[in-house]
Amino acid sequence: MAPMAEITTPALRRAIRRYSHGAVLYSEMLSAGAIAAGSSMNREMSARHDFDDPFVFQIVGAKPAVMAAAAARLAEQGCRAIDINMGCSAPDIMKTGGGAALLADPPRAREIVRACRSAAPCGLTVKMRSGYERTDLPALLDFARMLQDEGVNAITLHGRHAKLGFRRTADWSAVRAVKERLSIPVIGNGDIDAAETAVRRLRESGCDGVMIGRAAVQAPWIFALCDALVGGGHVVRDIDIEAVFVDVLEGIRDFLEEKYHRSRGHRFCFYFCQNVHFSHELFRTIRRESAIDAMIALVRGYFARNPHERVKTVRAGA
Ligand SMILES: Cc1cc2nc3c(=O)[nH]c(=O)nc-3n(C[C@H](O)[C@H](O)[C@H](O)COP(=O)(O)O)c2cc1C
Repeated sequence: MAPMAEITTPALRRAIRRYSHGAVLYSEMLSAGAIAAGSSMNREMSARHDFDDPFVFQIVGAKPAVMAAAAARLAEQGCRAIDINMGCSAPDIMKTGGGAALLADPPRAREIVRACRSAAPCGLTVKMRSGYERTDLPALLDFARMLQDEGVNAITLHGRHAKLGFRRTADWSAVRAVKERLSIPVIGNGDIDAAETAVRRLRESGCDGVMIGRAAVQAPWIFALCDALVGGGHVVRDIDIEAVFVDVLEGIRDFLEEKYHRSRGHRFCFYFCQNVHFSHELFRTIRRESAIDAMIALVRGYFARNPHERVKTVRAGA
């Protein structure tokens, strides 16, 4: 499951875990500065729950010592790995030198990895894009090799350079090229829209795993479908869409402080509404609400009016 700011809440992670024991879950992107300073603001964001296993904390920042301190603090909670964000293209992150800006500053990226490597007694991974303002394959391979040489245990590659944001389609040939040149696991990411696509990408690129973002918010069960397909089988499941909707919204309400309810509720609903026919109408009304209980009431009302939409049959394989 891809780390996504304001989306990979404990509530969504719990929903994904209900369908898949194996999916690797990520925290939201955590500011290394706030974690290192022990800010109470981040207590809920950085809490690990019983369903968070296997689990990875993702940190973002540009200062090696601060990144190392954050990595050490988070590792104390137990996790498979600390993931360093070298892919975020949000202007406010990049202007501080963090996220994808590190792709344009290999010496600093190296320093950060070195500092985190010696601070964190767990796995260390990097999530990156294929470049800063263009995909230059030799430079990408040098960068990825540098990460490997510094002791990074796995790399996730989103096949778009940072200036593209989400434009064009992800370039999986870059994933394949990096996989062919490295000995550590390489995880491919970008535009996986269904379990069939995930398995096709896995096979075509030869990568060791795939990471799914937006499609997994709309379909938290996608990893169960992937598991079945990878095993050569097929699966048909009836999903109670209303129940998943309510489960995640209640989780946001119960796991997180009230000040996070509006943003997290809206972000989740933006994607999950796509499971219903009148998605725009439902989302438009949800977006007017700030309280989770009001959002749940709208969801309940929608399914009371459209009971035939409550259960959706999903399938993968023959
Ligand atoms: C709303 C949103 C927030 C995201 N936040 C993060 C983040 O905090 N850290 C990160 O590494 N990537 C972040 N991403 C990128 C995703 O992890 C992933 O690389 C990207 O969505 C491509 O995968 P997909 O096509 O399967 O969605 C975010 C993406 C979206 C849509």
